[in-house]
Amino acid sequence: MTSIRITAFKLHLPFVFSLMLLMFVSSAAVFAQQPGADGLGDRLYPRLGNGGYDVQHYSINLAFKPESNTIAATAVLEAVALLDLASFNLDLYELTVNSVRVDDIEATFTREEAELVISPAQSIPAGAAFQIAVTYAGVPQPIVDPAVPFVKLGWQEWDDGYFAAVSEPSGSMNWFPCNNHPLDKATYTLRIAVPRPLTAVANGVLSETIANDDGTRTFVWEMEQPMATYLATVAIGDFVAARDNSGIVPIRNFFPTGASDASIAGYDVTGDMMVWLSDMLGPYPFGAYGVVVIPGFPAALETQSISIFGASGADELVLLHELLHQWFGNSVTLSKWSDAWLHEGFATYFMALWLGEQYGAGAFSSFISSLLTSGTALSAPGNPEKTDLFGWSVYARGALVLHALRGEVGDETFFEILRTFYSENAYGNVATTDFIAAAERISERELDDLFDAWLYGERIPDLP
Ligand code: ARG
Ligand code: ZN
Repeated sequence: MTSIRITAFKLHLPFVFSLMLLMFVSSAAVFAQQPGADGLGDRLYPRLGNGGYDVQHYSINLAFKPESNTIAATAVLEAVALLDLASFNLDLYELTVNSVRVDDIEATFTREEAELVISPAQSIPAGAAFQIAVTYAGVPQPIVDPAVPFVKLGWQEWDDGYFAAVSEPSGSMNWFPCNNHPLDKATYTLRIAVPRPLTAVANGVLSETIANDDGTRTFVWEMEQPMATYLATVAIGDFVAARDNSGIVPIRNFFPTGASDASIAGYDVTGDMMVWLSDMLGPYPFGAYGVVVIPGFPAALETQSISIFGASGADELVLLHELLHQWFGNSVTLSKWSDAWLHEGFATYFMALWLGEQYGAGAFSSFISSLLTSGTALSAPGNPEKTDLFGWSVYARGALVLHALRGEVGDETFFEILRTFYSENAYGNVATTDFIAAAERISERELDDLFDAWLYGERIPDLP
């Protein structure tokens, strides 16, 4: 149900009716003022994201108190209306909202679970650029998401006084109001104030460090390429930084103070990996890269331009996996969460390719065999339920989809498909159908049967 307001009267009509009415009545006195939808209809996350507008840029000004893990922030969103908007939603989990201004005029708002519903003083016409400023504060509350039962999501404290926002897929709304779906990518400015001696690390390039009168320092980070909300991060702690400016873009790694030389040296191979991937796929997509190591974080995540690792040490293959995601995942991003194999299958297959490149054909084929024999049944990776979204089938059988394609079309065509699919979709969003279409076009073959069987068939097919 959507509503249509005709001058002073508000009628609730089914959407089709309101469209028909608009088609028949074109008087200037009649105009639609619709509320933006409270979700983007993702099958797995129907209420993540919001309809009716498109965010272009997030500018988040945030002060942090480590003793209480409290944030106080203003988030300014530059957006474009896609409809005549009487009201619209942002996603925000807990926290206290103190004020909302739209184009610098106080707006009214209500909270409803993880939705912040905003009614601007005047409705926003379709096509208009507008600005939303939300001032808010509180202690971010970690989010339990059945897709990742092994970790809570969003901004939280890890071990030893280290904080980091780790959010895939739903967690970012625990620290900033957002259109929390990968379909709405935007650029970011993150200004994070922390007391000395702490450093605030975030996505992109550090453009400024400001010494404030109260003794805190503000770290200003700019992510100039489009980024999905789940890839936004801030990591805060007492870090030692290691820089390497000899490569294609600067590599800056942040380690907890006291990290051993051996654990730090494990990340040295990053530059070689970046050259290898850039040669194969096209230039590394962002202005810098690096890792931030967070004691107590139990996994790894490809946060854009600054992957997060736990303190258990650099595993070469995990390093490659998170770096590969900067191309497939971060630059070329899924349009719906159930297409996660487009991220995880690709990242897993490149682990095998790296093994082959570094250690020879035997290392490649034993990795592929381990995927094939891992677990009794690898269920279909193409349309998982939420609890299987980051399950092993999506990774392992997702990688085998690519291996099957390669067997079918041959090496040269296979790598041309990957390169072309990447370059045609860099900084955008894709669906599985886009990948199949690219593979068919470039190979000049019908590949529906192969993709159907590998992605959606119950039983794992034989490799071509
Ligand atoms: N994309 C991650 C990977 O590199 C896994 C995502 C799990 N989510 C998380 N918040 N750790 O495989
Ligand atoms: Zn991954």
